[in-house]
Order: sequence, then C-alpha cells, then structure tokens
Amino acid sequence: MKDKADFNIISEILNLKKEKNAIILAHYYQTGDIQDIADFVGDSLALSQKAASNNADIILFAGVRFMAETAKILSPSKKVLLPDMDAGCSLADSCKEKDFKKFIEENTGRTVITYVNTNIEIKALSDIICTSSNAVQIIESLPPGEKILFGPDRNMGNYILSKTGRDMVVWNGSCHVHEEFSLEAILKIKDENPDAKIIVHPECELPVRLVADFIGSTSALLKFTKTDSARIYIVGTEPGIIHQMKKESPSKNFIPAPPKDSACGCSECNFMKLITVVKIYKCLRDEKPEILIDKNILRKAYTPIRRMMEISEKLGL
Ligand code: 13P
Ligand code: SF4
Repeated sequence: MKDKADFNIISEILNLKKEKNAIILAHYYQTGDIQDIADFVGDSLALSQKAASNNADIILFAGVRFMAETAKILSPSKKVLLPDMDAGCSLADSCKEKDFKKFIEENTGRTVITYVNTNIEIKALSDIICTSSNAVQIIESLPPGEKILFGPDRNMGNYILSKTGRDMVVWNGSCHVHEEFSLEAILKIKDENPDAKIIVHPECELPVRLVADFIGSTSALLKFTKTDSARIYIVGTEPGIIHQMKKESPSKNFIPAPPKDSACGCSECNFMKLITVVKIYKCLRDEKPEILIDKNILRKAYTPIRRMMEISEKLGL
C-alpha cells in the first residue's frame, strides 16, 4: 500500500496533467509506480507513434533522452519535458557523430539504417530509423539487392542479419544492460525450472540469444507472455517490463535473467531509473527540463524517422 506522501504526490501529478493538458508517456523499463501514472506505456515504436498523434500541449517523457528527442522531432510544436537530462543511453553513446560519419564514408553506396537508440546527430546522418519492433520488417521491405549499413547495436545488427541474410555492415556498438546477462546463470535457472521459457531482447549477445525460446522487442516479449502457454519465464531484458507482464498474466511467474556480476544490479538500466515520481512532479510543475532542438538538425532527423513511421504504417506495425 502507498503511504500518504506518495499518494499526495501522485494526486498532484494527476492534477497538473489535467490543468496543463499534459500527458505522460512511459517506457516499459520505468519503475512500476511511474508506469501506473502514465497515460501510455509502450516500447520505442509505440511511444513514437503516440508522441506523433495526441492532443496534449505538453508531453512528459518518462524514459531516456533519445526517446524524448524523438517525441520532439515528431511533435515539434509541443513542449516535450524530460525529468532528468542525464537519462542517456550507453548504446546511443557508443556511436559518436565523427566516427559514424567516417564509417559511412568508408562504406559508401549503402542505405544507412539506424536503430532509434541514437543521439540526434546520428539520426540526421541516417536514411531510415528503426526500432526493435520493426527492424527486420523495415530491412525486408527494401529491394533484395540493396546494400545496408546498420548501427549502432552489433547484437541487434547480427540478429537482423541472421533473419534477413541481407548484405549488411554493422557498427560495433552495444547496450551495457543487455550485454550483462549471464548465460551460465540463465541456464542454471532453466535447469531448476525445466518448464520455464527463456525470452530475450535482440540486444542480448549471441550465446544468450541462441538459448532463447523467443526473441523480440519489449512489446513482443510482453505479447508472447500473454499468449504463450508456459507458466514461468526467464526474462532477458530490463526487469521494468515484468511489471506489465505480471499485470497482464497475474498467475504466471517471471524471473529476471541475472547479470554476470551478481553483486552489481546492472541488469537494471541506470539511465531509465534516473526518472522518479518526485522528478516527474517537479518537472511537470516547473515545465523543465525541456527538450529543445535546433531547427536545422530537427529537420534532418525528421526525414528518416518519418520514413520509419510511413513504412511501419504500411506494414500495419
Ligand atoms: P524497445 O523498443 O524494445 O522497447 O527497446 C528499447 C530499449 O532501449 C532497449 O534497450
Ligand atoms: Fe539504452 Fe540499454 Fe538503457 Fe535501453 S537498456 S535505454 S539500450 S542503456
């Protein structure tokens, strides 16, 4: 049960949302209390789609910076707030503009497809953006002979490569959370729970993906646990998603995949977890920190995101 202080801050947030015509968009990796006050909880694609079509004046993003930037790019006339500007992403940071430009120059003649987990400068250098929900389908929608350059996630890139067999060069970036899962510890849990299914995000390393019963984006993992007949799941992605899994399937058990270092707690995304209910309250009250983007770069980054949105719409994603 929530204590009185929590209850007050939550009702204040709800009042502020109404008063300011604001909505809260939250990613599945947020804590359960944040997911429960959000107007919409989703994966990167669904959050982008929601950011592009809503009637709010203010979007408060409970997620990380690249997600809030994408919302601003899609809804430039709205005020987009991010409760903590330090909510970055190790994957986005593994791809710096200068180095990525050089990579493109070394691989000319390739269509540049980047995962949405990038800083805005990388989006501006891209032809099409994708998320884990539509990456395989977007690449398959291109003519079979088209040469592709993919970044920044090497695991996601290799996963797409294994699914599509396309001519693809892949940037060598990664997410510190998804590379932390221990194959050994996952197999130990599986040994103790032989009926459990292993479900993982495509950002996980190959050995972990190889033992998985199902691989997918956060929303695909959630959908799988709803429709699949197993009773126990070993979940190889950030454990925030388990809040929705439990809500959707209360009689099932979900075991977070353990990290290699059992003492570090690093299967949690420290960037996502910078957002708190208190910061959301202050951010909505003061209408800051706000995402502000230079018009030129915003325009450049809009085109590849728009292409993703159009292809996704056409494919019914
Ligand atoms: P999804 O788009 O699958 O929600 O993934 C976002 C993310 O940051 C994965 O680490
Ligand atoms: Fe970035 Fe990894 Fe956190 Fe996702 S889980 S936001 S890819 S650091």
